[in-house]
Amino acid sequence: MDPSPGLSDAQPASGRTGGILRTIGGSTLWRRILPRVALALGVVLLLSACGGAERFPQTALDPKSDLAERVDWLQNLTIYLAFGVALTVLLILSYILVHFRYKPGDPMPKQVHGNTQLELAWTLIPAVLVSIIAVPTVQTIFDTQAEAPEGALEVEVIGLQWWWEFRYPLANGDTVVTANEIHVPVGTPVELKMTSRDVIHSFWIPQMGGKRDVVPGRVNRIVFTPLEAGVYLGQCAEFCGESHALMKMRLIAHEPEEFAAWLENEARPAVEPTDSASAVMAGKQLVTGGVCAGCHIIRGTSAQFGRLGPDLTHLARRTTIAAGIMDNNAENLHAWISNAPEVKPGALMPPPGLSEQELRYVVAYLQTLY
Ligand code: CUA
Repeated sequence: MDPSPGLSDAQPASGRTGGILRTIGGSTLWRRILPRVALALGVVLLLSACGGAERFPQTALDPKSDLAERVDWLQNLTIYLAFGVALTVLLILSYILVHFRYKPGDPMPKQVHGNTQLELAWTLIPAVLVSIIAVPTVQTIFDTQAEAPEGALEVEVIGLQWWWEFRYPLANGDTVVTANEIHVPVGTPVELKMTSRDVIHSFWIPQMGGKRDVVPGRVNRIVFTPLEAGVYLGQCAEFCGESHALMKMRLIAHEPEEFAAWLENEARPAVEPTDSASAVMAGKQLVTGGVCAGCHIIRGTSAQFGRLGPDLTHLARRTTIAAGIMDNNAENLHAWISNAPEVKPGALMPPPGLSEQELRYVVAYLQTLY
């Protein structure tokens, strides 16, 4: 790129260049601007090519549900139209700049005041473009609020500081309760009914569609059909306190049979330890008879009444703990239980006041909860 300041060093590029434009840097100006424009376009193209869910698991540009696809289509339509307008305007502008530039000896141009045809054109063309965007926009807005079709899977979503509860009402009247990892079948419409037990959160799994505010005292809905099996990451998208950024979730879309098997297992009571003298049994006694039971339910045990923390009945099947911020393994369970607020500032679970040995028993029991 030409590093010189460029106002005084302008050279006439051809016989046609000269006069006033030469004194403000005529052809040099072009030579300086064009490479920058080309570079900027190159960067944009490069950035648009390096997206993808592998590198950016929370991308909104790789839709995997019908709802997300519809929104993505609308966004693309708008972007392509905008690029078309920008390109057309730039081309016309470039043509005018080159073709009508001042040449020595040119007479004073004809002075005009208004041109009805041009004015009609630049009023009507944008009006047409805006209606091309407006009609599908309004349609998509209504689509995002659509009622769930017959046979949709209903899941209740509850946002809490700083985790998610998912409740699946079953046909037999029971409810499967899990946390932070929502399982759904591919190809079946899913209706999430969402509310909050404390402050306003926002449910957002970008590849499944738009955000939904999760508001105490209200039930908001979102309906979508997952299109492809996989694990899709999400994140609370409304500032909700000091650990807002640690309020993650994941949606696991299964093939239908796999989902049915998952749900069937979740509906069972907790696994019962077999060896009455084992560390696992000692852990069970600590968890279900001690301080944990005040906030956590483990179905099939005496821990039946805690509603403040996640249901732990099938904790060991979850891939993460602490709302998606740690892998579910013995080391992390130990760190999390021994001092949750250290891992997640503001977390309500207090250090349990257990000895090192007791903590190991607790972790051993929790790891059996398949
Ligand atoms: Cu919940 Cu941010």
